[in-house]
Amino acid sequence: MALPFHVTSHLDTALRRAADPLGLVARGFEPEVRVADPAHGDFQANGALAFAKREKQNPRALAQQIVDGLEPSLQADFEITLAGPGFINFRIKPAALFAWLCAYDTAQHLQTGAASAHAGQTWVVDYSSPNTAKQMHVGHLRSAVIGEALCRMLTFTGAKVIRDNHLGDWGTQFGKLIYGYKRWADDAALMSEPIEELERLYKLGHAATPDDSPELDEARRELVKLQNGDAANVALWKQFSEASLRAFDEIYQRLGIRFDYNLGESFYNDKVDRIYRELAETGLAEDSAGALVVFHDEHPRFSRNNERPNPFMVRKADGASGYASTDLATALYRTEHFKADGIVVVTDFRQTDHFEQLFLTVKKWFAAKNYRLPELHHVTFGAVTDEAGKALKTRDGGTIKLKALLDEAVERAFALVTEKNPDLPEAERRTIAQTVGVGAVQYADLSQNRSSNYVFSWEKMLSFEGNTAPYLLYAIARIHSIFRKAGVAPATAASEAGATPPETPTETTLGRKLLKFPDAVRLASDTLRPHHLSLYLYELAGDYSSFNSADKVLVDDPALRARRLLLCARTLLVLETGLHLLGLRTLERM
Ligand code: ARG
Repeated sequence: MALPFHVTSHLDTALRRAADPLGLVARGFEPEVRVADPAHGDFQANGALAFAKREKQNPRALAQQIVDGLEPSLQADFEITLAGPGFINFRIKPAALFAWLCAYDTAQHLQTGAASAHAGQTWVVDYSSPNTAKQMHVGHLRSAVIGEALCRMLTFTGAKVIRDNHLGDWGTQFGKLIYGYKRWADDAALMSEPIEELERLYKLGHAATPDDSPELDEARRELVKLQNGDAANVALWKQFSEASLRAFDEIYQRLGIRFDYNLGESFYNDKVDRIYRELAETGLAEDSAGALVVFHDEHPRFSRNNERPNPFMVRKADGASGYASTDLATALYRTEHFKADGIVVVTDFRQTDHFEQLFLTVKKWFAAKNYRLPELHHVTFGAVTDEAGKALKTRDGGTIKLKALLDEAVERAFALVTEKNPDLPEAERRTIAQTVGVGAVQYADLSQNRSSNYVFSWEKMLSFEGNTAPYLLYAIARIHSIFRKAGVAPATAASEAGATPPETPTETTLGRKLLKFPDAVRLASDTLRPHHLSLYLYELAGDYSSFNSADKVLVDDPALRARRLLLCARTLLVLETGLHLLGLRTLERM
């Protein structure tokens, strides 16, 4: 019987079971199992040390007691040693490693093994969420790419994931846009280049309605008509939203994204009254010069005693709703309607204050009303900058459009593929370039800690060396080519019958690295930080490359060949599964 997929949690359970009869668990003992530095073993438990310190016991003696209580099967699967002041080290034995590698041999088996972390939970992920009638820019790229990776990792770890595109489709800008549309619309352009045309009309509308002008009054009247449900203006607004979504969808398709819902801000128009009522009724919100606001006095930045009080503006003095009220209604809807156990919103770090206030308010409000509180996460990311650290701009200082950026990525990837592989037919090189170009942009984002700025560099992201998409995609293509040469499919009886456990140092290192894939996925999904998974994949590709240069795969000895083909197949599986989890597509040939 093979070990469970996630060996770390298996060890955690075993250590608790051994510590329980000693009375340690009741006193708060936590095993704290982690992936170990490969020089010391595969996993290590640090918990005995912390516990012994707290209880003023001898840590090594305590660790020894726990080890003595471990089930015999564990002793059979691992070499267990005490190290340093009281760490317990586990090094997997070749037979146990081999059984694990044999058991988790398909994407389906990996997924079943990983599914326990979020099993039975529903998560709503709010990402991309651009404003309609405007181009998406590079900032929206990060939200889309990071959000999609999180959706896939949460799904993989067992959650039911609802992808919700919270469009900014409501606001005062529609007055000026309708004003512009009614005077200067070009219907053909609206069909062929909808967003560009809407941006043009907004600009014209804005320029024609200066402050204090009668034209501005007219634009305001258009807005009021829209808000009051005037049929003609509502129809226009719908047309704007639909045209915007069609344009966004082109980008989503290229990024492999499909939303379950596009519940934009407008969807919550009729749901904010309940928010005003409940927040007032529970005493959380108060009147401030006609507006309805919430202070959080326990929080230095949001308390009423702050020098520049910055309350959460639930309803403006003119009675209008805003970003805050909509997001409160959104949190309630996701909790009641989707029965969310977790809510994730992905935006750049500049919205930190808003979401801190939102979550503080939701927590107090839900507690007062006895509503079940989901886990709330604001996933932030830094700016996109050039290599000099400046915000990424076009040569003439404009914002970079996402569409143009992806087109350029594909063009550059095409040149690269052509250079590497001039003999492939052009159509195939074009298809490969799509995957490599878009993948390079996605991966460059996901391989950096999202809290940092995304330093955009074509040279780096399209390099075949380093932690890049081309490097990983190429590693995958090379493994496929080994199987083509061998004339067998990966992970089949034909390729693996008679395989034996890893033996050489490079085989063993590779096998032991594969065993850590579940930990990488767990870490990335628990912290909602995909770069942990990227780093793992990069290291795995490195171990594979060492194995590949040291150990010839297609040897005559059938057992040896099967054993190495098995390692190739599992590496392939983990690299492909991992990149798919990050939202990339992969290739068999490159
Ligand atoms: N539309 C906003 C923007 O472009 C992002 C919305 C994020 N989601 C939310 N529930 N507030 O900045």
